[in-house]
Amino acid sequence: MITRYTHLECHQCGKTYNKDETQTFCTDDNQPLVAKYDLSKCSPNELIAERNDMWRYQAMLPIESIENQLHLGEGGTPLIPLKKLGSTYDCHNLLLKDEGFNPSGSFKARGISMAISKAKELSIQSASIPTAGNAGSALSAYCAKADIDAHIFMPEATPKVFQVDCRVMGAKVTTVPGSISDAGAMMRDKNDGSWFDITTLKEPFRLEGKKTMGYEIAEQMNWKLPDVCIYPTGGGTGLIGIWKAFKEMKEMGWVSSIPTRMVAVQTDGCNPIVTAWKEGKDSSIPFKSPKKTIANGLRVPHAFGNKLILKTLNESNGYALDVSEEEMMNGLSEFAQTEGVFLSPEGAAVWEAFKKLRKEEWIKTDESVVLLNTGSAYKYVENIQEAYS
Ligand SMILES: Cc1ncc(COP(=O)(O)O)c(C=O)c1O
Repeated sequence: MITRYTHLECHQCGKTYNKDETQTFCTDDNQPLVAKYDLSKCSPNELIAERNDMWRYQAMLPIESIENQLHLGEGGTPLIPLKKLGSTYDCHNLLLKDEGFNPSGSFKARGISMAISKAKELSIQSASIPTAGNAGSALSAYCAKADIDAHIFMPEATPKVFQVDCRVMGAKVTTVPGSISDAGAMMRDKNDGSWFDITTLKEPFRLEGKKTMGYEIAEQMNWKLPDVCIYPTGGGTGLIGIWKAFKEMKEMGWVSSIPTRMVAVQTDGCNPIVTAWKEGKDSSIPFKSPKKTIANGLRVPHAFGNKLILKTLNESNGYALDVSEEEMMNGLSEFAQTEGVFLSPEGAAVWEAFKKLRKEEWIKTDESVVLLNTGSAYKYVENIQEAYS
């Protein structure tokens, strides 16, 4: 047996579901399902020493057979110390988890690799997704590898490179006027029931792939978790996933405590989570008329997992804040010219959020801070080139 996976459970009502069902979310209360494991049996000895990718943590992942794991090199990304910026902003344990190194250029590779590995395990033939770009690229790549048809719906405003990337990989791409919510509505309308809908958190396995960021951060920090973790939040899977990993590790005794405060960053042109968090709500309402942004991944008017995102922020004594387009552009240049890393605009949003929290002294000088750069900037050149030509 390669995994300790036992069943699926609704995060809200606790109803359990068989692990082999192609169940996508809780039918009773329309909330995400989460994968559960027999954590009492997991020990660090189960880490797969010879693997440096996310499959190193296969005991805590839901795939039952090694033959179904789809490997393109997902995970195993560096945790880079930011000495220069740390010194400028007087924060001496500042680290960047750089997810731009993943296959297809973003952290989406982790979640989609897991979802499509599971789809393969369950003999699914077709998958569909609404995407801001990066998830579409990842789905196209893993579906090509698994011989599964990929149906991709993306907003018209998505940089062209994503459309080309998906089509080269053999996916069927439909562009849709409006936001990712409109793309999702169109996808559901076209689905005759034969496509496995892997919309963020409407199936439970992408979360499991994304949680491996949390396992890696812990291992790279020698099993001592950071004080603060800052994450660019659209659908929120990474934020929820990292927190899930931290809690699993605590339950297994791999870490002795969880000091981490989780931070969600959005743009000021589409900030439903920030608004709900500031108002002390436990769910968010759909954001009307999201503005155009250079950070396409953050233009999410309504996250299906909004309750889980807010629960994560509350449980961790975290924070939610937004940044402007101008701030992201400035942050991108500052970071590149100081640390030599070309951040995705979503990563630049995280950087700007760090500066605000440091200025407010919400982050103290001696605290350890992990910034998530969720993707490669090279796919976003179309969004930022004007400022540099
Ligand atoms: C680069 C990048 N960062 C962040 C996000 C938001 O991710 P999540 O849906 O996990 O909040 C996306 C989503 O498309 C993205 O592409």
